[in-house]
Amino acid sequence: MNREQLHLLTKPVAGDLEAFDKRLTNYLATESKMINSVARHILASRGKRLRPAMLFLAARSGGMRSPRLVDAALAIELIHTATLLHDDVVDESDVRRGQDTINYRWNNLVSVLMGDFLFSKAFYLLVSIGSPKLIKSVSHATERVSYGELRQIEEAANFDLCQKDYIRIISDKTASLFATACEAGPIIKKAEASVIRKFHRFGENIGIAFQITDDLLDFIGESSKTGKEAGSDLIQGKVTLPLIYSLDRSSQKVRNEITGYLNNGINKKGTDHVVQFVTEQGGLDYAYGVARKYSERAGNIFSSLKNNIYSRTLRELMQFTVARDN
Ligand code: IPE
Ligand code: IPE
Ligand code: MG
Ligand code: MG
Repeated sequence: MNREQLHLLTKPVAGDLEAFDKRLTNYLATESKMINSVARHILASRGKRLRPAMLFLAARSGGMRSPRLVDAALAIELIHTATLLHDDVVDESDVRRGQDTINYRWNNLVSVLMGDFLFSKAFYLLVSIGSPKLIKSVSHATERVSYGELRQIEEAANFDLCQKDYIRIISDKTASLFATACEAGPIIKKAEASVIRKFHRFGENIGIAFQITDDLLDFIGESSKTGKEAGSDLIQGKVTLPLIYSLDRSSQKVRNEITGYLNNGINKKGTDHVVQFVTEQGGLDYAYGVARKYSERAGNIFSSLKNNIYSRTLRELMQFTVARDN
């Protein structure tokens, strides 16, 4: 699915997303020339805005309409963007959303501090929404993102990492924010705890499927579509599901060969060899299967929710998270 298809898919909340975009542009304006030019760079190439879209769809599926939703979506997208600015420093990435990263165009310092700036702006906005429960939810998700990113560093080049620990890491670093986006509307609406919990679990499962797919795209994605450089996880020593599965089913000899190869600091060309290994071992198909399983889990939680245009769109968006190529 490409950007235009995604745009069509999210049509039922097009008005919300438009209000969101406007608010985002205005919210980042400052009196500093440098900050404004970094902000312009960020705004020049928008992301998929999946978390805002899910927030609006989840809220509207429960009949909610409130200007506070735009602020909640904005806070979550700002946090997401901040984590990307930090992540690109950590991962030494040069390209994001089809353009130079902030660390590449400016430097690490600017990227880290601009990330902090976005975090603070997000929490300032969040407080004004006036829901302590939402502040708690977003704070907890933000803590989980950092925890997951740190755990990932801790486990870098650990080729014995098991699937369970991998899922834990991606739940923290990625699914946490999806869960918050999905439960934000119900929280603001003061829905029953059981409803909030359902939306939370729905978002968490989608988020896991989403990150497994992101990790798959690092093996086989086209950078013209993903807007990111493929192969960077292997270069960074990130051990993700296709590799975990493939190493697990290899003989000790092959395992030693591949891990020896990865430990020697491979370059972009060298990743081809590992991609071939993982493909032959069925690691890619396996990871797709696991992503689908989490997406189905989200679908099962969903079946007990109201059936309307918003919930149906949310379901399609859920399918997009595993079928996407961008
Ligand atoms: C990228 O998220 C970071 C991950 C959690 C994999 P997205 O793929 O949602 O990033 P943008 O906002 O669309 O660029
Ligand atoms: C997700 O991990 C990053 C965050 C949760 C901040 P990745 O490192 O895989 O994300 P990309 O691939 O750089 O977007
Ligand atoms: Mg990264
Ligand atoms: Mg990635």
